[in-house]
Amino acid sequence: MAKHYSIAIDGPAGAGKSTIARHLAKELGYYYVDTGAIYRTVAYFLDLLGISPKDTDGVERYLDELTVAIAYDEEGVQHMLMNGMDVTEDIRTQDISQKASLVSALPITREMLLDLQRDMAKRHNVVMDGRDIGTVVLPKADVKIFLTASSQVRAKRRTEELLAKGRQAQYEKILQEIEQRDHQDTHRAIAPLRQARDAVLVDTSELDIEGAVAAVREIVGKKIPL
Ligand code: DC
Repeated sequence: MAKHYSIAIDGPAGAGKSTIARHLAKELGYYYVDTGAIYRTVAYFLDLLGISPKDTDGVERYLDELTVAIAYDEEGVQHMLMNGMDVTEDIRTQDISQKASLVSALPITREMLLDLQRDMAKRHNVVMDGRDIGTVVLPKADVKIFLTASSQVRAKRRTEELLAKGRQAQYEKILQEIEQRDHQDTHRAIAPLRQARDAVLVDTSELDIEGAVAAVREIVGKKIPL
């Protein structure tokens, strides 16, 4: 089988992972795999059924009834399919962000989604972003990047992003949500958010998008023929 390259980008919410990964994937002609969207799809499914992500028994009982799949449209945009239904837009709420963080802490959820992620990297060149890509999902990724930024900068970016879309956003509330999610994602027992030993740290607090993309591209260029 032909060699497929994989680039793992991990880091906390709002560090710029998806924007940078998307840019990079487009430039390299790779698939962009947003793994957060997979956890969000699980959270959304449980939410529709009225199951709390904290109700481990309930989650276990209903996960069997869920099939999660990833599809790409002709523009290369990732779509999430929940039992065949496209839920790409529905999973992008603050409420689902929090629920995805909680449900992703359960071993059963992580186990169920591991093959789906690894399979993507087996079949394609990928830029994959998430929390545990370099540590658990693709420990042999060709390039590993840990992208971070201060929680204040991340909250400010998120607030501006929502306001630009005409949505309501309060900086203080968003900061609090980001810090709560950081805490949950870094303190869970299984596959917590942490930098892999062989990952390169990129702090985007002082960088704009172009600067951050350039920094990441430089790291990638040292390991993969561009
Ligand atoms: O990247 P995101 O904000 O869409 O992710 C939503 C939640 O999913 C995040 O708070 C933690 C979880 N997640 C995870 O546990 N592992 C991943 N590889 C990606 C996301």
